[in-house]
Amino acid sequence: MSAITAQTTVELNDGNRMPQIGFGVYQLTDAAECAAALGAALDAGYTHFDTAAAYDNESMLGDFFAGSTVARDELFITTKCWISEFGKAQTRASLEQSLKKLQMEYVDLYLLHWPVDETMMDAWEALIAMQAEGKIKSIGVSNFSVARFEDFFFKQSDVIPTVNQIESHPLRPQADVQSYCEGKGIVTEAYSPLARADVLGSEGLKSLAEETGKSPAQVVLRWHLQQGRVIIPKSAKPARVRENIALYDFALSDAQMAVVDGLNQDQTVISWRPNDGIGWY
Ligand SMILES: NC(=O)c1ccc[n+]([C@@H]2O[C@H](COP(=O)([O-])OP(=O)(O)OC[C@H]3O[C@@H](n4cnc5c(N)ncnc54)[C@H](OP(=O)(O)O)[C@@H]3O)[C@@H](O)[C@H]2O)c1
Repeated sequence: MSAITAQTTVELNDGNRMPQIGFGVYQLTDAAECAAALGAALDAGYTHFDTAAAYDNESMLGDFFAGSTVARDELFITTKCWISEFGKAQTRASLEQSLKKLQMEYVDLYLLHWPVDETMMDAWEALIAMQAEGKIKSIGVSNFSVARFEDFFFKQSDVIPTVNQIESHPLRPQADVQSYCEGKGIVTEAYSPLARADVLGSEGLKSLAEETGKSPAQVVLRWHLQQGRVIIPKSAKPARVRENIALYDFALSDAQMAVVDGLNQDQTVISWRPNDGIGWY
């Protein structure tokens, strides 16, 4: 049995540590539903929460955690700067606004939400400055391809992001991006780890679920964990919130891992892409 547990953390290249499992809150914009999901997540053992300025629910997290008994240093909170707020002054103002809504003095991880050409490096400079001021523990990026790192980012900065949060699931694992990031010491965090449930009806996953006595979602999430990715599944349903962290009493064999690998179709489940002219992200 693998030694991975719900408390497993991964080390970031700045010396901080990040819980390998977290709870994503995209689309939880109804205050009561969001609070119920956060309550179920905290009770189930999640300590890491992933939001963004663009998700319109930072205040809901702020209210929920302010009203809970959990200590701030037991939580790992990620939020993200949206592309319209990229720029030295704008990014600073955006983080200040996020901290106010979250009712927190700092965030554990602050990400540039999507890459764009013109303003992104100014935003990155702002992140570096605000980390030095203690408003951010770790800084990172999201939705970066290998080309974005190689042909753009590292031509302009020698500060290596701690994390690249990318779409990753059986239909589109993006192993090439993960492998490049490993070489640079950047942790890969899988968003939409369940492919927004689009993959869960596949015959391969149903057979693995039968073999392991687990659900298709649990098989997929365990497959991520065994490849070292951080995962942030989202669910509005308390039973699924619990199901998605009950991943530590079984392991997939190499043959079972290969069945999940075989579902790759390089198929995105995200329909939206910013495009500021460069044609890749
Ligand atoms: N950086 C970025 O650009 C970016 C982009 C997208 C997402 N994210 C982050 O990643 C998080 C997760 O991604 P996501 O929300 O796109 O997709 P996801 O976690 O892959 O899938 C969520 C969907 O799967 C369903 N689901 C969850 N658990 C299930 C289970 N055990 N069995 C069956 N269905 C289940 C949910 O429905 P119910 O809610 O009805 O259970 C929801 O429709 C987001 O919340 C956000 O924090 C980041």
